[in-house]
Parts: sequence; C-alpha cells; structure tokens
Amino acid sequence: MGQLLSAPKRLKGAIIGFGFISEKGHVPAYLQRDQIHSDVEIVAVADICEARLALAKDLLPQANLYKDYLYLLKAESSRLDFVDICTPPSDHARIAHAAFECGLHVLCEKPLTTTLEEAQALLKHAVQVKKVLYPCHNYKHAPVVLAIRDILSSQRIGKIRSLTLNTYRNTHAKGVTEWNTHWRREKKLSGGGIAMDHGSHTFYLTFDWMGAYPHAVTAKMINLDSDRYDTEDNFTAVLSFPNGLAHTHLSWTAGVRKVIYTVQGEKGSITVDDDELQVAVMQKTQGPDVAQGAVTWTVEKRSIVSNWMDASHVSWFNSLFDQFKKAIDDHDYVGKEARDAYYCIQIISKSYQSAQEGCRELPLSTSIQSLL
Ligand SMILES: NC(=O)c1ccc[n+]([C@@H]2O[C@H](COP(=O)([O-])OP(=O)(O)OC[C@H]3O[C@@H](n4cnc5c(N)ncnc54)[C@H](O)[C@@H]3O)[C@@H](O)[C@H]2O)c1
Repeated sequence: MGQLLSAPKRLKGAIIGFGFISEKGHVPAYLQRDQIHSDVEIVAVADICEARLALAKDLLPQANLYKDYLYLLKAESSRLDFVDICTPPSDHARIAHAAFECGLHVLCEKPLTTTLEEAQALLKHAVQVKKVLYPCHNYKHAPVVLAIRDILSSQRIGKIRSLTLNTYRNTHAKGVTEWNTHWRREKKLSGGGIAMDHGSHTFYLTFDWMGAYPHAVTAKMINLDSDRYDTEDNFTAVLSFPNGLAHTHLSWTAGVRKVIYTVQGEKGSITVDDDELQVAVMQKTQGPDVAQGAVTWTVEKRSIVSNWMDASHVSWFNSLFDQFKKAIDDHDYVGKEARDAYYCIQIISKSYQSAQEGCRELPLSTSIQSLL
C-alpha cells in the first residue's frame, strides 16, 4: 500500500494596492503557480481607486473587492493567511501593523518602510505576534544575480574587496495612470526619491556580495527636476564594509535603462551588464614582479537571460514566494530578508542625513538583533 500524500496547504492571500506591480508582477505569478502547485489563492483585493478595483475584477473574478484595507481585514482576516502590500511606501508600515493585529503574515513590497523607527517597530511587532515579515527583495532572484552568487561561493575570484553597483534609468518609474502616476516624485507618498525607491535593491545585493553589513556611509544626491518635484533623481553613496568599499549609484536621468555591476576580488572580478556576465580570473605569475603587473587572464563570457527590461520582474516572483512560504513553514518570523530590509532603510535614511550634512560620513549600526 502506498502512503497517502496530503495536498499542499493552499495559502489564502489578500492584495492591498492593485497597481502596476500587483497587476503585472504579483498576480500573474500567483495565477501561474496556483495552476502548477495549487498552493496559493488571492481571495480579496483592496485599493482606494475604483478604476483599479474594476481592473482587479477582470484578473481575479473570484476575489472580494474593498475600497479600504481596514474593511478588508475586518471582513476577510478569519479566512486569510497573509497580506501582500503593494501600495506606495508611506502606507506600508500602517497596513503591515494592521495585518499583524489580525494575525496575518506579511509580504511587503520594497522599501519596507520610509523611516528607521517604522522598520524597527515592524520587526518587533512580527516577533511579538509570531508572524512572518517578508520584503520583496526580488533582485536576488534575477538569474544573472543567482549566477553571481554561484561564482562567489566557488571562491574563483577570492575574497571580495570592492563593489560597484550602477543602476541607470531614463525616467522615474511610473505608477498606474488611474491613480497618481508620479507618486515617486512626491515625498509625502514615497518617503524620498530614487534612493528610497531603488536603494533597497542595490544595498541588499551589497550585503550578500560582501558577506557583511556596512558600518559607515557617505552620500551625495541631486534633484535635476526640482521645479516640479521634491525628491532626488540622482544618488551616489559609498558604503564601508569590514573588507572593502561598495560604490553605489542610482540615476533616473541616465538616458538608458540598465544595470552595470562589478564585483572585485583578490584573484579576479565579475562584470555584469544586464544579461552579459564576464568572469576574469588572473593566472598566477611566476617569478619576480614585472612592470605594469603583466599577468594572463582566463576570461569567461556568458549571456544569462534575466528580463531586466520587464519592470514587473514577474519571472523572478515565484522563487521569492517559495522563500516566503518556507519562512512561514519554518516560523522564521524576522529572517535574513527582514533584517536586510531594516539595514537598507538605515542606509537610506543615513544617506539622506549625510547628503544634507555635506557628505559627512555617518556610522551605521549592525546590531538589529539587540533591538528586537
Ligand atoms: N520589487 C520591484 O521590482 C518593484 C517594482 C515596481 C514597484 N514596486 C513597489 O510596489 C509598490 C507599488 O508600486 P507600483 O509601481 O505598483 O505603484 P502604482 O501607483 O502602480 O500602484 C499603487 C496602487 O496602490 C493604490 N493605493 C494607494 N494607496 C493605497 C492605500 N492606502 N490602500 C490601498 N490601495 C492604495 C493605488 O490606487 C494604486 O492602484 C511600491 O512600494 C514600489 O516600490 C516594486
């Protein structure tokens, strides 16, 4: 007699904020994984914009729709497992606290919060109610980024000494037209400009590649469109790690959309230009030093399709959702991703302070554990 296998638990979720990332990223991925694994179902959606709720009805005809997330939580929480927060950042903390109060796990888009105080309170709340807090740090799931992780764990380029992470955009990312397309340029909704919007992706990658959290930051920024908007569109920060520096740059005025990363080790380096990855490893030189450090190189070039141009990053979502599910199964309420989110917000807020104070280098705490 074969053993009876129990069906996987089908998590029931509610989406709060049915804008671009929900419609083009999260929901298509949920629908796809439910067809394959039958392990997730979106049963309710809240959005303050009627036109967005009408579009949600098309994609999720079975879901109950609400104009206010508090009504959704009141009516639905007894049958929910989690909420997926996809509103602009200024509302993330408030919605996440309300979901924790209702005993739900929280998946939350980046940035987790817009202030460090909010981030700390949220991590503490997750610990108190024993519910998972999980940020959508989806760049970790890009195929080319996964390839970098493999190369680093193979030790081929040795100990990491320095990083450069450049993110170029030809415009600020725009929200759906039915609501407020330019909310990223309004500080009261976004909490800040490109550093708040995109900084998390850059910073959590530095933590993984350096294998540590940074202990200091210095930053500079500018708003080239200050007559219309009150958030920065260009940002540069240097992070100090125990083993070296990470140079980070973000631009919404670059005239191009791409990422260019370099990871520099003692024995070689990795260069990424969107899908193009190059690993250069130095061959050991024999004998005495020579002028100009002449060495020979082994160079490997690969193209790893990662769909960078698709801003929804829908193809990266389900590997992230697998990890959220695992955190729920493992009762890992404030795991590495939540701690990374806290450190990202710390860098962003200290960077704003550094830029205001003439690029003064500011210390960063690396002891979140003691604050929980
Ligand atoms: N991880 C990524 O790669 C990625 C990509 C894009 C966006 N995002 C993040 O997703 C979030 C949303 O961004 P977007 O581009 O989808 O914005 P968007 O403007 O397209 O969508 C926001 C939606 O939220 C709704 N909304 C606003 N306030 C609300 C509230 N209090 N309650 C319920 N609904 C509310 C709006 O009506 C709108 O439909 C942001 O945090 C953003 O940083 C992440």
